[in-house]
Amino acid sequence: MSKAPAAPVLRVEHLSMRFGGLVAVDDLSFSAARGDITALIGPNGAGKSTLVACITGVLRIDAGTIRFQGNGVQNLPAHRRARIGITRTFQKVRLADQLTVYENVVAGLAGHWFANSSGWLRVLRPLSTREAVTTVGQALERVGLSDVSGTVVKSLPFGRRHFVEIARAIVSGPKLLLLDEPATGLTEPERERLSQLVRDIAALGCAIVLIEHDLELVGRLCDRVTVINHGRRIFTGTPAAAQNDPAVIEAYLGVNQLIGGRDDARD
Ligand SMILES: Nc1ncnc2c1ncn2[C@@H]1O[C@H](COP(=O)(O)OP(=O)(O)OP(=O)(O)O)[C@@H](O)[C@H]1O
Ligand SMILES: [Mg+2]
Repeated sequence: MSKAPAAPVLRVEHLSMRFGGLVAVDDLSFSAARGDITALIGPNGAGKSTLVACITGVLRIDAGTIRFQGNGVQNLPAHRRARIGITRTFQKVRLADQLTVYENVVAGLAGHWFANSSGWLRVLRPLSTREAVTTVGQALERVGLSDVSGTVVKSLPFGRRHFVEIARAIVSGPKLLLLDEPATGLTEPERERLSQLVRDIAALGCAIVLIEHDLELVGRLCDRVTVINHGRRIFTGTPAAAQNDPAVIEAYLGVNQLIGGRDDARD
């Protein structure tokens, strides 16, 4: 399974972030490479979603650096980080329920530049541009939602909404995709479809960070997993080694969610 290391697209170094007196991310270093699927796991409250919000620019960091394609981005606002290729999906699906699948996905293009035959075009009124229609169509096809493009999101089954979020995240052709527990609440066939989709997106050259509690799924998709607890990195290595690592076992002790997923679907 070993392959030549690719250049890191994302390099987080000594990152710390506090909510008042609570240190949510504590001196954490972590990287993700082009075409790789890097897993990030840790018990509830470990700081995984906070880390994602720091990388996308929704939360300001207190210390450290976030390098994206070699450049420090920690001072860029969130919309500029999105425009240069950093996107995410949310742990609790965040979609405009009253709008159609197409309309939700086209929102992922807002503010982006993309090429057309006559040069570079800013998508200001994406619904009226043929390029946007084509681009959204391709994203919907990739995630298997072409048949429900005109369907209002609130009438979709829960599992398919996750795929709408992924389509919205990939429609702009990101270079880094952060997936925050995308498998939660999915049926087994949907999880299988998700696994294949994540592999396909990585094969396009995107760096993927996958937050996921189920090490079996992580083991199928990732060569490398980083485990965090109380905001600190406690392990980086293979998923198999993680299962036998004393610090990882202790972090999860009594939580019963390390192997085979969690029993509580809190979200
Ligand atoms: N907006 C906030 N204000 C204050 N504290 C917060 C906020 N968001 C998260 N926290 C706290 O920061 C810590 C890290 O939370 P975070 O949501 O990042 O964990 P997580 O690893 O994503 O957990 P889970 O697996 O439950 O999603 C927790 O102690 C949490 O209570
Ligand atoms: Mg979380």
